[in-house]
Amino acid sequence: MCGIVGYVGEKSALDVVIEGLRRLEYRGYDSAGVAVLTDGVLVSDKRAGKLQNLEKALQDTPLPVGKTGLGHTRWATHGAPTDANAHPHLDNAGKVAVVHNGIIENFAALRAELAERGHTLLSETDTEVVTHLLAEQFEPSGRDLAEAMRRVCRRLEGAFTLVAVHADAPDVVVGARRNSPLVVGRGEGENFLASDVAAFIAHTREAVELGQDQVVELRREGVTITDFAGGPGTFREYHVDWDASAAEKDGYDYFMLKEIAEQPKAVADTLLGRIGADGRLTLDEVRIPDQVLREVDKVVIIACGTSFHAAMIAKYAIEHWTRVPCEVELASEFRYRDPILDRQTLVITISQSGETMDTLMAQRHAREQGAKVLAICNTNGSTMPREADAVLYTHAGPEVAVASTKAFLTQLVACYLVALYLGQTRGTKWGDEITEVIEQLAAMPEQVDKVLDTMEPVRELARSLKDATSVLFLGRHVGFPVALEGALKLKELAYMHAEGFAAGELKHGPIALIEDGLPVVVVVPSPRGRSVLHDKIVSNIQEIRARGAKTIVIAEEGDEAVVPYADHLIRIPVTPVLLQPLVATVPLQVFACELATAKGHEVDQPRNLAKSVTVE
Ligand code: AGP
Repeated sequence: MCGIVGYVGEKSALDVVIEGLRRLEYRGYDSAGVAVLTDGVLVSDKRAGKLQNLEKALQDTPLPVGKTGLGHTRWATHGAPTDANAHPHLDNAGKVAVVHNGIIENFAALRAELAERGHTLLSETDTEVVTHLLAEQFEPSGRDLAEAMRRVCRRLEGAFTLVAVHADAPDVVVGARRNSPLVVGRGEGENFLASDVAAFIAHTREAVELGQDQVVELRREGVTITDFAGGPGTFREYHVDWDASAAEKDGYDYFMLKEIAEQPKAVADTLLGRIGADGRLTLDEVRIPDQVLREVDKVVIIACGTSFHAAMIAKYAIEHWTRVPCEVELASEFRYRDPILDRQTLVITISQSGETMDTLMAQRHAREQGAKVLAICNTNGSTMPREADAVLYTHAGPEVAVASTKAFLTQLVACYLVALYLGQTRGTKWGDEITEVIEQLAAMPEQVDKVLDTMEPVRELARSLKDATSVLFLGRHVGFPVALEGALKLKELAYMHAEGFAAGELKHGPIALIEDGLPVVVVVPSPRGRSVLHDKIVSNIQEIRARGAKTIVIAEEGDEAVVPYADHLIRIPVTPVLLQPLVATVPLQVFACELATAKGHEVDQPRNLAKSVTVE
């Protein structure tokens, strides 16, 4: 997620902004920039890479001192992390500077409109359109930057936090937000704007949280908040009692808890902007011609760890929606088994970091064999997307905790989108069928939210099992990879034996593991889809319970068949069969995190593990 800081007051704006951006570094970013107003002139600098790149540039070419300014650390979504794509973005006259967090869905149409009116846009970003629109609206708004911002916001679609300054509006910083965080810090003779309070609590702990669709005008002497129409603002004033470290986690004890809570938004953001005006699906950067995709006769998905579990779920969707054979491969094994690949093979790599060496080397091997590669990745501009033929970015935002949660859910969404895209391109899915699935996906953020709201019993159960020595996880169909993911989470966080199985495999050996009191988590498929699978897994639950297992059953609302055999019953919302992993995984994330916390483990940085494994 991008970091934003705005300031107006008596201090050096550059110092306050740079210090604030440093406090937001934990959010992950790949470029940084600042803009300062001084004596009616706007000055700015921005650099790809880490903050120190920008600071070195500012040492080499210092900006004049000013007391009004803004800054940004960018987590790239549209456009690779380059100097040109870094924020702030300026208009052609160099009078307006804008920074942005979020996605402006209708930026393409706005870009075209601005170009027709003679604006020259210099970057690949969606953000830049706001700069030029603000420049256009400033005069008609009576040189009132807040009014200009209100007019522009009324034209934007999507999720955005915007902060802007104008050379002809000295001592004013204006911000706006829709579905993206923006908080005000109120000081004495100075005021702050930021994407979270960590940026300014060194200066003030008096904060104001803005409501939806709000515009805020900051001056030294005060803050004015309105809605996008100029009517009374909605906001909440509060005192920040967190310390700086807690503020980075938005008040959560661990980044992992914060990232679990961010999953509804991450899923929603990953869906944003995927449907063109013509109702057709679009991927971010597809450099694979439709005809080539139509000639694909095999899909091979390659990944590691949690991303591999997403790949397993993708297989069900791709084969069901496109009828193309789909293989799923562990990256570390793939190259060494002399795989059969050719120009008719589509290889999909899935990676949160885009730098996992096992997956990267597999991707390179696949390309050497002539296969086309599509990368599903959460890190814009990382190596895998750069080297792939096509890219679909997840928009989970930076995932700081080593144990992957929100990235996993967004990988599932991306996999569903790729399967639909293949169906659309190959004609195996009609437009209305695609629209139906997209509508089902669009309902998933709310479903994930529902699950998150009912997790207290799961936390209590986890705490009660903190001395367990082993937990098994069972699932069938798309629930099988979910079981594997639940086991992986418990391994990497609680450092205990945990194993996932296909429930149908029980009788082929694993049932020998069942003994009195052994906790077994069972992910139950919907009774509505393949009810034979549901009936079989109910039998499995009976079998293990008869042998003493403590059954922890995850089943959809209304599934009464499991009730007699569940020692603990965790309900999930009714969802379409293939989308169930989006809700079934969440209790397993919470379970593992809480059990590890009960054991006193460092949840964000588990022992022996790295966030990105850049060695083979
Ligand atoms: C998952 O919780 C782990 N952090 C790990 O298995 C991870 O999924 C794996 O290393 C792959 O990482 P990537 O998605 O960045 O390629």
